[in-house]
Formats: sequence, C-alpha cells, structure tokens
Amino acid sequence: MTTPDRVHPAWLPPEAFRAIGSRRTLVLGDGLLAETVHDEVAQASARYGGSVRRAGDGPYDLVLALTTAEALPGVAGEVRPDSAIGDEGYVLARRDGVTVVLADEPAGLLYGLFHVVRLGERAFAGERPAEHHRPAVRRRMLDHWDNVDVHPVMGQVERGYAGGSVFWRDGAPRGDLARVRAYARLLAACGINAISVNNVNVHATEAHLLTDRLGDVAALADVFRPYGIRVHLSVSFASPVVVGGLPTSDPLDEDVRKWWADVTGRVYDTIPDFGGYVVKADSEGQPGPFAYGRDHADGANLLAEALAPYGGVVHWRAFVYNHRQDWRDRSTDRARAAYDHFAPLDGRFRDNVILQVKHGPIDFQPREPVSPVIAAMPATRVAVELQVTQEYTGQQRHVCYLAPMWREVLGFRPWGADGSDVADLVGGGDLVAVSNIGDDPYWTGHPLAQANLYAFGRLAWEPRLDPVAILDEWIDLTFVPAATGDTERLRRTLHEIMDDSWRTYERYTAPLGVGFMVRPGHHYGPDVDGYEYTPWGTYHFADRDGVGVDRTRATGTGFTGQYPPPWSEVYESLADCPDELLLFFHHVPYGHVLRSGSTVIQHIYDTHFAGAEQAAEAGRRWEEAVGLFDPALHARVKDLLDEQVRCAEEWRDQINAYFFRKSGVPDARGRRIP
Ligand code: GCU
Repeated sequence: MTTPDRVHPAWLPPEAFRAIGSRRTLVLGDGLLAETVHDEVAQASARYGGSVRRAGDGPYDLVLALTTAEALPGVAGEVRPDSAIGDEGYVLARRDGVTVVLADEPAGLLYGLFHVVRLGERAFAGERPAEHHRPAVRRRMLDHWDNVDVHPVMGQVERGYAGGSVFWRDGAPRGDLARVRAYARLLAACGINAISVNNVNVHATEAHLLTDRLGDVAALADVFRPYGIRVHLSVSFASPVVVGGLPTSDPLDEDVRKWWADVTGRVYDTIPDFGGYVVKADSEGQPGPFAYGRDHADGANLLAEALAPYGGVVHWRAFVYNHRQDWRDRSTDRARAAYDHFAPLDGRFRDNVILQVKHGPIDFQPREPVSPVIAAMPATRVAVELQVTQEYTGQQRHVCYLAPMWREVLGFRPWGADGSDVADLVGGGDLVAVSNIGDDPYWTGHPLAQANLYAFGRLAWEPRLDPVAILDEWIDLTFVPAATGDTERLRRTLHEIMDDSWRTYERYTAPLGVGFMVRPGHHYGPDVDGYEYTPWGTYHFADRDGVGVDRTRATGTGFTGQYPPPWSEVYESLADCPDELLLFFHHVPYGHVLRSGSTVIQHIYDTHFAGAEQAAEAGRRWEEAVGLFDPALHARVKDLLDEQVRCAEEWRDQINAYFFRKSGVPDARGRRIP
C-alpha cells in the first residue's frame, strides 16, 4: 500500500487559507476560541502576506468580531441583528468591500471563520446580504471505538480500518498531541463539537480512564478545547465493582450512587467542561442493570443523577438485543429488540439522559429501514447514531460515500408526508457517529473516505444539505486549492466515482435490504450463510422456495407494528413495501414480482452484474485521472479500487451462484453464473 511521507491535510490544506491569508483581518473578542481564530488567521497571513490585528482602525478586508466587543467597526455594527445570534451561530455579510463575521460567542467566530475558508475567494467578491447561520443540531458528536490496550481480537481500534488510534497505543497515551490537534482542527472545520475518546466496549484497562487514568483524558480535553470540542468518556456500568472495589453496581444501592457522585465530582474537578458518559449496557456481553433486576431507566438515571450538577449528559445506547438466539425460533426478532426494551420506558428517563439509537433496527447495514425507536419516545431525548467507519460498507477499502444514505435517514418521515422528519426529531438535540479515522497518513485509510467524516459533520450542522453539494465542498477544500491540472475534470471524476457509490455497493452486496451476508467476525467480503445458523439473530432464511424475513403482523414477527401509520401499513403490505426493503420485511418466492416489474431472482442477478460492472467502471475512471491528483494519493486509491473491483466480483459471483443453486432459475439474459 502506498504511503506518503507526511500526514495528509485532508480538507484543510494550507492553500485553502490563501484567500484569508492574503488579506487584512481584524479579530475582535476574547476567550480561548477567539484566540484560536486569531492564531488561524495569523498563520495564514504569515504564509500569504496578509495581516491580522486585534484592535485599531482599518482598512480591513475581513472582520471577525464578537457582538460584545467594544467599538465594533461601522460595517459590523450595521449587520448586527436585533435578535440573538446564538451560542454557536454567526452572521456572515459583505458590504462596502468588507467581509464581516459576527457572533455572540467565540464558538460562533470559529465556525464563521471556517465558513469563510470554505468560500475562499468568493467570500471577498461583491456584496453579500447578512446570512444568519446556526447549527440545527446542538451536539454533533463522534464516538471513537478506540481501545487503550490492544484488544486480542479487535485490535487498537474496534472496527477501525485506518491504522492505530491517534489517542492510544499499546496500553498508553500515544502522546502525539500535534496529531490530535490537527484532528481537532479538522473536526471543528466541519462542525463537530463533542467526542467520546474510547470504545463503547469498555475493557479492563479502559475502565480506569474514569479514575486513576483520568489524567490521560484530561490531556486530550486540553487539546480539543481550543477547537470548541468537549470530551466524553465511555464507561462500564460495572465500574463501581471493577474499579471501585464495591460488591455491587446495583443502580438503586446507596453506596453505588455515592460512588458515582464522588467519581463524577472528581472528573469535573479535573475536566471542568467534561461532556458526560457514553454507556453500552446489557448489550453484547457488556454489564448493565439487568444483573440486579433493574431496567435501563434505573441504570441511565443513576449516571444522569451524578452528572446533573455539572450539566453533563449520559448517552445511553439502545443497541440492546438477544445475541444468543436460535435460528429455528422465528418469533424472536432482533429488529424488534430496541423498541421492545425502550419504548415502554418513555417518560422515565431523567432529562440529561440521551437515548442513543442506531439509525436502523439491526446494525449499520448498507440498507435498513429507519429505526422505529426514533419516533416512539416523545418524552425522551433521542440521539441518532450513524456509522462513519465503514464496518459493513466496504471497510474503507471500497469507495462508499455515505451521505446519500444518511440524508435518506434524516429525511424519513415516520408519520408520513405531512409529519416531522428525523432531522426535525434530532433538531436541537444530538447526532452521533462512530469515527472512521486512525493514525494512517490519510486519516481514513482510503483517502476518499475522508468525505464521509466531512459529510457527517456538515449534515449534523445542517441536516438538509444536499450530499452532492457537500461532496463539492469537500472536493473544493481538499483537492482544488493545491491542484495544478484541470480542476473541472478532477471534480467530475470524483463525482462520477463517489456520488452513486453507496448504491453501487448496495447492488453487489446483500440484496433487497436483507443484510448480513458478510463473513462472520470481521465482516468483510461475502459469505451468504456465514451468519445463518449463528446465535446473532441476523438471518435471511433463504431456502429452495424463497428468501427474506417475515416481519409482518399478519404472519411474521410483528415488527411492522412498531411503526406508526402509514409505515406500519406500507411495510406490512407486500404490494406497497419499497423494493429496496422487501426482504427486510417479507419472505417471498424467487418469482415474486417487484414494484419495478422484475422478479426477485432476476433483480438479484441484474443488480449484482451491474454493481460489479460499476465498480470496474470506477476503477477505469480513476486510472484515467492519473496526473490530476497527487501521485501518492492516486496510487493509494488505485490499489484500493483494484481490491474493490476484485471483491465486488467475488460478491457478484457468490450471491448469484448461491441463489441460482437454491432457486434453480436461470438468468433471463443468459449470462454465465459461475
Ligand atoms: C456492532 C459491531 C461491534 C460493536 C457494536 C456496537 O455489532 O460489530 O464491534 O461493538 O456494533 O455498536 O456496540
């Protein structure tokens, strides 16, 4: 694999600051984040010959000012709105040859600065009426599944495909704070403001981050703070026993409550702006309240009570299901589990508990319906969790631009066309994603996977952004400023390869929403029956007659009943169920005719031939683009595309052969099925 000799600047190459750095800037305001803004402009100015001042008369080309600043220059005063701009918001305007960013708080200045970076020269052209920007989502958070110790099976980063952790190595802090600082900067530039720094599966060493190793967390918090990012920690529900030496972790036990209160007090003494705890409890073997006959509300409220005096929050994960299932038992349905556990608890959680729900009911498959839990808990704060790390979407060896999928999730309307969408439901709340970076020089292993991290941050800020427009922004920041060749061709190449890449991936992997035909354990590459007879509850039930999971109320597990109308009816109905989710909701014969007019079996053949061909086409496009990109980056992506093409063919052949053998139905177009 080709490796460059320096860390790739991702979407903040120095050249992206040329427009700012060649101008005269005034930064008005105090506070840590205002210092960050000043330092950013100062660095850019040093490179491109501009200037930055903290006070004094102009002329200026750019003014970045807090509304509280004394003596706002005239233009800034003129664009100041009557109402509050908000904690992280800013007003951007251009008048009389001066570009102005105004904010009530330093965080707003920082986000405003990065907006100007995104605009580049456009920020300094013509006039710009005042635009008020503020994030739709209050907490825009990344969860790192990084381990401090190298886990014997999962390694340094669980489901990490980009090398080691940037935080930890072999049981100790990695100590490369310059790298963490560069990361914090990238995150702030796309709008992220919260980060959890260790795996939700909290092993023995990591449990100590809460207590005797808290200093390691504080060191990270010090680096993230100047970029407006608060640090959170994954904790074990069994901490009172495993690190506290108590005989129990029972949430209703007085000593346990006191233990959490004391420990949490010490956390805030050390990290005053600490964000809170992330908890995976009674899930895949992690300890939880069930051991004491208590429920998830008891468990979450225990930690929430300890955090409340300091304004901290608990992210309590809803990923709870029976992972010791029997495939013969068709009444137990993993898709139902989160709703069955949590919906009855609505109203019982303290208000600083945030129930963190994976976007689909199973587990980050390339295609799932939106989890019914998101709409089922009006009296609970709910966060939606996305997976930026490509566990089931090609593991950062395949190009799979995920923003179109996330946009569909955020645009889903649980109550039908006239009701709110998921973006409304998380608005003002939390959007969370599992991180995809590591110590790889390109941050994300696959250089093009950087776009997923960028897009997550941008969608968390503004969930209605168009994925194609986000990709344009990312290209314009990452590649265009330093490009020497034909930038239009460069842009076109990336769009051709990336815009539809999620659907391409969907085409050559498990068909029609059925999911999980991956190799067990590591989850890369095809294995149609790999999980079929295991206890994990992820079955497709293919036999000689048909395939799919009957989740209807009429004859199946009843999962469709967890949705409000109209979806409870749409998904229940064989005629109305969207094709792409048909096998998630229904078990059908191979000859079943889809809404598209094709049969299920022919759809399987057609999409698998098409998907593998589209992967090959992406490979050809990339080869033609040699010379448009930095040679090391081009070579890295080429190697990965070669692997994607190989793997897509493997998927095509395994899926097609499996279903040809099961069904006995030949391809209507007579193609050879190996
Ligand atoms: C998936 C993933 C695990 C992870 C889990 C979770 O099952 O494979 O590695 O721990 O999700 O989200 O907790």
